Amino acid sequence: NVLILDFGSQYTQLIARRVRELNIFCEIFPFNHFPTDLSSYKAVILSGSPFSVRSDDALHPDLSQIRGKLPLLAVCYGAQYLAHFSGGEVAPSNTREYGRANLSNIKSEEPFFEGISENSQVWMSHSDTIKKLPTNGIHLASTNDVENAAYRIEGETTYAIQFHPEVYHSSEGKQLLENFLVKIAHVPQNFTPNAFVEEIITEMKEKIGNDKVVLGLSGGVDSTVAAVLLNKAIGKNLYCIFVNNGLLRKNEFQNVLNQYEGMGLNVKGVDASQRFYDALAGITDPELKRKAIGNAFIEVFDDESHRIEDVKWLAQGTIYPDVIESVSVKGPSATIKSHHNVGGLPDFMKLKIVEPLRMLFKDEVRRVGATLGIDPELLGRHPFPGPGLSIRILGDITLEKVRILQEVDAVFIDGLKSWGLYDKVWQAGAILLPVNSVGVMGDERTYEKVVALRAVESTDGMTADWVRLPYDFLMKVSNDIINKVKGVNRVVYDISSKPPATIEWE
Ligand code: XMP
Repeated sequence: NVLILDFGSQYTQLIARRVRELNIFCEIFPFNHFPTDLSSYKAVILSGSPFSVRSDDALHPDLSQIRGKLPLLAVCYGAQYLAHFSGGEVAPSNTREYGRANLSNIKSEEPFFEGISENSQVWMSHSDTIKKLPTNGIHLASTNDVENAAYRIEGETTYAIQFHPEVYHSSEGKQLLENFLVKIAHVPQNFTPNAFVEEIITEMKEKIGNDKVVLGLSGGVDSTVAAVLLNKAIGKNLYCIFVNNGLLRKNEFQNVLNQYEGMGLNVKGVDASQRFYDALAGITDPELKRKAIGNAFIEVFDDESHRIEDVKWLAQGTIYPDVIESVSVKGPSATIKSHHNVGGLPDFMKLKIVEPLRMLFKDEVRRVGATLGIDPELLGRHPFPGPGLSIRILGDITLEKVRILQEVDAVFIDGLKSWGLYDKVWQAGAILLPVNSVGVMGDERTYEKVVALRAVESTDGMTADWVRLPYDFLMKVSNDIINKVKGVNRVVYDISSKPPATIEWE
């Protein structure tokens, strides 16, 4: 187990992901708020930071239980921190050093640099530089612009680097992390999907015992993997609820429900479409749509969970990035909802919470899902927003508009699949515009709806680029949509990136 202390760097999660890629379990804690009992940790990594060690608001971790006691790797701010406060010197760089650099003067006989080439490319992002090494510091490497790019401390298992091994552009960064964690700190590489599954099932069994658990399935990867894990741990005491809000893709409710039943899950499908349409009637504002859908879901879920006698737990598909966000250096995220006070919470929200995936990143959830034998097609599904098609129908929602959009979306998505493009796209969908345009069909003038198609590449949805889909594909899909879907006579393709556009139109 490795402890990563976060000083607020944008790259901290990347450090954790690289460590996990080595099959080593690690946890991120804020630099000033980590466990007092460090006995289960085999090594510590200090992250970078947007702060400067020279400024008055420099972040001061308490390393008294760490330095000299556990193997320590200090990255960027961490490296500067060790230098500045232990007898070295940190000064502003002449220019902010940002981007690729190459190592030089490597002490290649050091185990830290085993297998690292002399000119190894590394990623730099800093505006201070280490002018003088700390007491007992031993120089390990430089770059063109930085004399002290890496050092270690004599008499300790402490290593420090100015560059970021976690960023992909540090081409041998993973090897360096492996050298430190495996060769130097002897951390076992035993965090595999199989090991995780075994361990979490035992943990869930102990925690939950014979209690009943309720879980909301969405059709998405996280809730599905959470359900399959819990099903293995507690079997029929897991009560899954899958709500049809009437805003899912065409045939999605029935198909996914069948799939869930096929996996042996104890699942109840609840068709509450009308309740959602009623709640949405006449609403055009995107945020009000989201609210109406959120509230309707809570009501439906509360009703359904009351039907399960004596339920004690609510299971959720929370994953690690959400957990980190809620304890981040910058404080709890502003997105955490504050409008519920405990007294006014629906009953199911007062249940004890169980979150089997709370230590996993998204890609790890997929790998665990594969280990559990979940259909790869389900694991590879594009993200789909909770409010579903309602935020892809601009303006108010009617049954007829939902029907049109479901048909259009199905032609688009089926087309992506049959052309082998689905897995090359991160997310795709169709948008029904509140616009009619003039067309001609045979000899007749038409005046019908316009739809937009959107397909994006992304890693986490925070930024995205539109996909350069082949013209032939777009031509075929446009033709099929206009021929097959009554009420649509024009198709456009969205060529906006995020930012400044968002992925969804609402
Ligand atoms: P935007 O439109 O903000 O979307 O670029 C980023 C990602 O978030 C999804 N999204 C939502 N998911 N409820 C959800 O569960 C929502 O209200 C919501 N709005 C956007 C969107 O599909 C994309 O993957």
